[in-house]
Amino acid sequence: MNKEFHAPGRVNLIGEHTDYTGGWVLPMAIPFTTTATLTPMAAGYRFESASFSQAHSLTCADRGAASGNWSDYPVGVLRQLQKRGAVLQPFVLQLSGNVPLGAGLSSSASVEIATAMALLAHAKMRMSVPEIATMCRAAENDFVGSPCGIMDQFVVVAAIKGHALMLNTATLDFQHLPMNTGELAECRVVVANSMLRHSISTGDYGLRRQEVEAGQAELKKMFPNLLNLGGADIDQLEQARASMPQASYQRCRHIITENARVLAARDAMLAGNAALLGNVMTQSHASQRDDFQCSTPEIDFLVETANGIEGCFGARLTGGGFGGCTVNLVHKSAVESFQRSLKSAYLERFSIDSELYVCEAVDGAMRRSELVSENLPVSA
Ligand code: GLA
Repeated sequence: MNKEFHAPGRVNLIGEHTDYTGGWVLPMAIPFTTTATLTPMAAGYRFESASFSQAHSLTCADRGAASGNWSDYPVGVLRQLQKRGAVLQPFVLQLSGNVPLGAGLSSSASVEIATAMALLAHAKMRMSVPEIATMCRAAENDFVGSPCGIMDQFVVVAAIKGHALMLNTATLDFQHLPMNTGELAECRVVVANSMLRHSISTGDYGLRRQEVEAGQAELKKMFPNLLNLGGADIDQLEQARASMPQASYQRCRHIITENARVLAARDAMLAGNAALLGNVMTQSHASQRDDFQCSTPEIDFLVETANGIEGCFGARLTGGGFGGCTVNLVHKSAVESFQRSLKSAYLERFSIDSELYVCEAVDGAMRRSELVSENLPVSA
């Protein structure tokens, strides 16, 4: 019998561009799904996708380079498993799903994790959550050639329904934070898709990452005990400011202040304080716009407009940036009118018909698989 494996998408509530310098992130899994169905075959490996007409076949011995199309994501996972000693009998893997592509909602990580779950079951292998996430990130970094951090893969595999996931990307320690404490029970997470495609493998994501790493290197020179930017504070950055380009200074300032905002967001969530959580989300947007400079006029418009609509506690650009989606914290009584107002204002201003998604926090792939290799703790 063919087995199906499911992985969600994700939206990041706060903690942007902190996940490749050992910082904090606070994403949640959202109700979009990639399904991977694996069928044994007589010979070779074959990858098919309902979203792309071109299938991809390779022999079991193939260790060739990436092909530059969608199949690089699942093939990259296969390669990582092979590197870890997995012996996989021939198969065809069929992928289908509805995670919006290039919208900053982690369609790539969703494909990687669904693939990993299917291939692990096929190889009769078990891995922990951090191992699966690390392996899928490596598939994307090393095979696809996209310089992403660990956040997306981690939350897509580790999320728990009704919770956001607070992750320390330096240690991979994590905590599941309930989404229904106090006033948060009365709130909904609304994602607004600008319909502008963003990409991590091309575009300015890689440039931003280089600017950040240049700044981090200067900081580490000046403060040799510093492991990464995640451990730095603003005073240290100010002391190192003269030794780095202005762009690096601003990118690092965003990351240092963003890490503090994630901690403030966690406190607001634990206290069930919607106004406070919304406020740090909006501050995060300003920092992405002004310091990290990864927003666009369309995204800024969505955020500003959202913040002017009654019932909205806060809004920000989510994901890699340069397009994609905003995430909004909205009182449940205002969700309908919020969607109507935001959609019509955006249409009027940019002639673009945005999509809005009201998202509850769903389970990650581990919880949706028979492979559950550990009892994920739910803690607050
Ligand atoms: C993309 C990457 C993540 C992270 C975000 C920005 O989603 O895949 O690793 O860096 O951008 O926070």
